[in-house]
Amino acid sequence: MEYMGDDKFWDEKFASRSDELLGPEKSLVDNIEYFKVGSVLDIACGDGRNSMFLLEKGFEVTGVDFSSRALERLNRFANRKNYTVETKKIDLSDIGALSNIGVFDNIIINHYRLSKEVLANIHNHISENGILFACGFGHKHQADERIRKEDLIQPSDFEEIKKTFGLVKYMENKDDRGFFVTYIFRKISN
Ligand SMILES: C[S@@+](CC[C@H](N)C(=O)[O-])C[C@H]1O[C@@H](n2cnc3c(N)ncnc32)[C@H](O)[C@@H]1O
Repeated sequence: MEYMGDDKFWDEKFASRSDELLGPEKSLVDNIEYFKVGSVLDIACGDGRNSMFLLEKGFEVTGVDFSSRALERLNRFANRKNYTVETKKIDLSDIGALSNIGVFDNIIINHYRLSKEVLANIHNHISENGILFACGFGHKHQADERIRKEDLIQPSDFEEIKKTFGLVKYMENKDDRGFFVTYIFRKISN
């Protein structure tokens, strides 16, 4: 699905950003201890504020997004610090968007609402005991024309994946930007 705007909207947004990267998501920093050592797929990574944090923590990182400008910025920030990051331009609104992406020890989805169809197959891309971290505007957020109702993460988004994942932690938090949720799931081992 399109989140807040199309690729042109996001390209323009990233092109107009300063040469400084925003800090990582607080709930990711606070909960990094739950992550499995190894690789991370950063879904809708943007210009990589969370990818950079994960690289600094020693993870192997792949970032996917449909904004070329965002991915260029992430590569630039990583090069500056001599980190290697893999980036792929992918439109996540395609049902098969992640079908060839491979398997990771962790997946993060931060400030993007992944479609139920793509989420339904996410277990195929996480190794045993791997972590799925999802954070963003939640169901109790007051929607407006910028953050629309369809952009809000709903508890029902994760019903299907509960067959293959156990919920490790759920958090709600409200600040002057709005209402946020964080879900941390661990893939159940066979
Ligand atoms: C609010 S930003 C979040 C970026 C990053 N995850 C973060 O936490 O800073 C939303 C991101 O979703 C990306 N996005 C929106 N719709 C998309 C789509 N259909 N396919 C791939 N990326 C998309 C945008 O380019 C943008 O980078």
